[in-house]
Amino acid sequence: MRKLNPGLLLAGVLLLFGVASRAGADDAAAGKQLAVGDDTFGCISDMKKVKHFFVDNLLGDLDGTVAVANSATGGVYPPGTVLQLIPTEVMIKQKPGFSPATKDWEFFELEVSPEGSKIRTRGFAQVNNRFGGNCFGCHVKARPEFDFVCELDHGCDPIPVTRPMIAALQHTDPRCKSAGPVSPEDAEALRQLGEISKPPAQPGAK
Ligand code: HEC
Repeated sequence: MRKLNPGLLLAGVLLLFGVASRAGADDAAAGKQLAVGDDTFGCISDMKKVKHFFVDNLLGDLDGTVAVANSATGGVYPPGTVLQLIPTEVMIKQKPGFSPATKDWEFFELEVSPEGSKIRTRGFAQVNNRFGGNCFGCHVKARPEFDFVCELDHGCDPIPVTRPMIAALQHTDPRCKSAGPVSPEDAEALRQLGEISKPPAQPGAK
């Protein structure tokens, strides 16, 4: 029995690793794709805040990421960059040449809960958010110097989700342990977000 446990443990670890990185196992093995799994993600406000959004870098180059995020003239985000505006949507910069069409950005849509994050969808040009919008289709419109980052004035089409709604979503990320009571402003912003998120009432619509 004593011998069995470490073996089982190893098998479990290998299995977990295999599941987490199956999508790009070969490329990950070749060192081309960053290993990203559910555990990569956590409480949004534990990331570094730049302006109104949050950044990180999986390869340790947080300074490089922050410098581009703060630059008024744009720049190319370094590999490993993680960007989040709302808890459920993430952009991660893969290594150069991985996906030229998306400038090596991989898009993620997450399911978030107090238990953590689950990747719902991930990929390059084909990922949609829960409203059916294609991440790439919107972000590709950012002017080239901004490397797919939209903010409010980089050339992307505007979205109906306002900054107060975004702030409220950030403050109420269920993965954050420290989430206190919801402020009246946030509650109002979330109510308005609920209104615009409702599917239009059409007879026969699914
Ligand atoms: C309808 C267009 C649209 C779609 C679809 C869309 N985005 Fe965005 N996204 C925007 C705009 C516009 C902003 C800037 C909003 C702001 O700064 O207030 C933004 C902001 C972001 C940011 C913060 C950095 C930035 O570009 O300003 C991230 C990260 C992001 N989106 C990821 C995603 C992911 C991942 C998806 C798909 C799951 C997605 N977005 C789908 C338009 C879109």
